[in-house]
Amino acid sequence: MSSMKDVVILGIESSCDDTSAAVIKNGVIKSNFISTQAVHKEYGGVVPELASRAHQQNIIPVVATALKHANMSIQDIDGIAFTRGPGLLGALLVGTSFAKGLALSNQIKMVEVNHLQGHILAHFIKSSEEDNDQPQFPFICLLVSGGHTQIVLVKSVLDMEVLGSTIDDAAGEAFDKCAKVMGLPYPGGPIIDKKAQIGNPKAFTFGKPKVSGYDYSFSGLKTSFLYRLKDEVKKNPDFIEQHLDDLCASLQNTIIDILMEKLLKAMKDYKVKDVAIAGGVSANSGIRTRLTELSKQHHWNLFLPEFQYTTDNAAMIAITGYYKYLNNDFASQNITPKARFSI
Ligand code: KG4
Ligand code: ZN
Repeated sequence: MSSMKDVVILGIESSCDDTSAAVIKNGVIKSNFISTQAVHKEYGGVVPELASRAHQQNIIPVVATALKHANMSIQDIDGIAFTRGPGLLGALLVGTSFAKGLALSNQIKMVEVNHLQGHILAHFIKSSEEDNDQPQFPFICLLVSGGHTQIVLVKSVLDMEVLGSTIDDAAGEAFDKCAKVMGLPYPGGPIIDKKAQIGNPKAFTFGKPKVSGYDYSFSGLKTSFLYRLKDEVKKNPDFIEQHLDDLCASLQNTIIDILMEKLLKAMKDYKVKDVAIAGGVSANSGIRTRLTELSKQHHWNLFLPEFQYTTDNAAMIAITGYYKYLNNDFASQNITPKARFSI
């Protein structure tokens, strides 16, 4: 039996190409089930229409599985948290509409969640009731995903300030687009990560952007990478194949250099001691190693997310929903998704 004070949240995530549901009880993870859509692989990127359709097919079994893994039924749920945005509109509509129907038919409160806030608050998911290893406020979070690259000052769970953002491509996009140029399948980020581990990060150099403040830019790197490869392939058609590991290592090293420069600046300017990283690209082993070294050097407390919470997942939506629920911040039945939605 749950006591009166227990708060159980069902999270639903459907913003891009992962259909996910999770259950969190009093901030402690009970289940986190993710179904990654395979249909996009052969297209070299996410196809919005196919994503919506796959969400539509997956959502009921995914939610049922998350409840089952948590050993709960819908009657145990106090709040349904869903991703309102940012993301693909058709994909968001599936999760939003499903959350509305489920909430209405079972008289459960609804909470809307910003996906980006979710990525950051993944650091507050407890693995058990005794888990107290969370960042202290204020801290800085480097949010790096396929769609976003931002430096965020986190003042409290629900009070965040974006200090800088990418002015063009996201870091994950840089990984994926450069991978495509090398003939690697989508998503290329994890493949580059693997190959980079055996390549030489100093083998090639690529231009770094000059952007003011805490903003980022990655489109120049992509172009410089593309032209460098074109030049080399003209001279030697097997160039990419012969240098794949070194190309991956050098590209990854450049992306990390770009990311770290602004993060270091923000950490110094804001005199913050705790630093976190979030989003799909935070799974990257090179970024983790570099951040670990930097943190030792500068005496920061570093928070690296568990791998299951790096790429899109509903646990991060449920934990954000949990804090909003405690704040009585509920959504109404006429709420609509937002494809563009800042923190
Ligand atoms: O957060 P996420 O799942 O989706 C968005 O909200 O965008 O991030 C997906 C991105 C993709 O660009 C993928 O290539 C990248 O995260 N990614 C990685 C790694 N694992 C995932 N990039 C580099 N190294 C990795 N190990
Ligand atoms: Zn994401």
